[in-house]
Amino acid sequence: MKFYVTTPIYYVNDKPHIGHAYTTIAADVLARYHRLKGDEVFFLTGTDENAQKNVQAAEKLNKDTQTYVDEMSFLWQKTWNDLGLSHDDFIRTTEERHLVAVKKFWEAVQAKGDIYEGEYEGWYCVGCESFKTESDLVNEECPSHKKKPEWLKEKNYFFRLTNYRDQLLAHIDAHPDFIQPVARRNEVRSYVEKFMTDVSISRSSLKWGIQVPGDEDQRIYVWFDALINYLTAVGYGVDEVMFKKFWPADLHLVGKDIIKFHCALWPAMLFSAGVALPHHVFAHGFFTIDGEKMSKTIGNVIDPIAVAQNFGADVLRYFLFREITFGEDGDFSIARLEQRYDGELASELGNLVQRVLIMAQKYGVASAPKIELSIDGWTKDYTSAMNEFRLHDGLQEAGRIVREANQLIDKQAPWKLAKDGKREELEQVLNELLTMIHAVACMLEPFMPTTSERIFSQLKIMTAEPLFPRRNVI
Ligand code: MSP
Repeated sequence: MKFYVTTPIYYVNDKPHIGHAYTTIAADVLARYHRLKGDEVFFLTGTDENAQKNVQAAEKLNKDTQTYVDEMSFLWQKTWNDLGLSHDDFIRTTEERHLVAVKKFWEAVQAKGDIYEGEYEGWYCVGCESFKTESDLVNEECPSHKKKPEWLKEKNYFFRLTNYRDQLLAHIDAHPDFIQPVARRNEVRSYVEKFMTDVSISRSSLKWGIQVPGDEDQRIYVWFDALINYLTAVGYGVDEVMFKKFWPADLHLVGKDIIKFHCALWPAMLFSAGVALPHHVFAHGFFTIDGEKMSKTIGNVIDPIAVAQNFGADVLRYFLFREITFGEDGDFSIARLEQRYDGELASELGNLVQRVLIMAQKYGVASAPKIELSIDGWTKDYTSAMNEFRLHDGLQEAGRIVREANQLIDKQAPWKLAKDGKREELEQVLNELLTMIHAVACMLEPFMPTTSERIFSQLKIMTAEPLFPRRNVI
């Protein structure tokens, strides 16, 4: 089996924060899970560089746009590398390969008769890089960016999105797991049915962005260009073998803020160009920081690298999917992270591993279970959770076994069995405990690769180094 998973490509008008890291780490967890399962995985992330907001950010720093996006894209790549993410490709929409794919795609849509010239008059929010209707605004402002959008009046090319309303509704109805979770599917369905209109897909007033094929005065609307990245990376129009192997994508992971672009505009574009639709689009929720919206003005923007430096990347990864139900909104707080570190990781898991290994050494139970770095420690509940993108349930399952193992120690008191000379029972309990620890390490592997690697090697050589050493108090 193959598994092609994508993240949104991120704007480079600022550096990555914990919200961006959340989506990218989720994709990394799923990519690692599928690799362990034996699937051929292609995990794609990247940067969205043709946006007006990038131009504005460069202007603020008095930098030339290309230099600015080069520097920023490098910073994003470095961040994902420093977090130890395992993406197979990092795409930039200013790359030549992408310009080639976008041109091909535009021409396919044009050949289908779905592009027409028209005049756009209305609002545009640069923050969202999106056209707005009056009903999208609150007190004349974009509710997400708290800014009055720009009034635009220009000749544009339009995409006949409404041509695909019926086909899209039929697809959504026939494939209940195309858009997940279900609340998002309902939201998209009602938008497609009641509100979706044709959309302007070019801008005449811009100097930055991909040129419309055959019209030098127009630049392609950034969302139309950005979505195509998912095709570019697997060789659309260039490498038929790779394209056949990986497309359609198995999963586009996105935040709930960009679900309509991915579940209305994108599928309609694909219908028009005659390309198959992705199998699943999963939208996760947004989280606040200590109960407040994350924002520069409040000053509570969290840098994922700082958290990883203080606690370890594995701990950050564990916390994100343990604390927040994947698909729902949630809250992030360093205090909660510390609690889970001390409680679930250091005490429950760390002590379990240490105690069992010390006992195994002390009582001479030498035969660790047949240990393989493989999936044979996964339970059924774990695999179904992971197959259905319920990452929080995957972690719960590992946690359940940790608790059971700790209860087993309390109940069986191996030191007593040793004292009473009950050798057979002692060996049986310790072997059972070692097997349980092995299972936990297998299930944690996609979430905490470094930690589980350490558990595996400790099990092999039977040493009991602390897994979660005391932290420096910050
Ligand atoms: N460039 C577009 C995506 C184009 S995809 C073809 C874009 N970029 S973005 O830089 O604004 O990133 C948005 C994504 O960041 C969200 O969809 C979400 O995945 C993630 N998040 C940003 N803030 C977040 C939170 N506060 N909480 C959770 N996720 C967040 O949109």
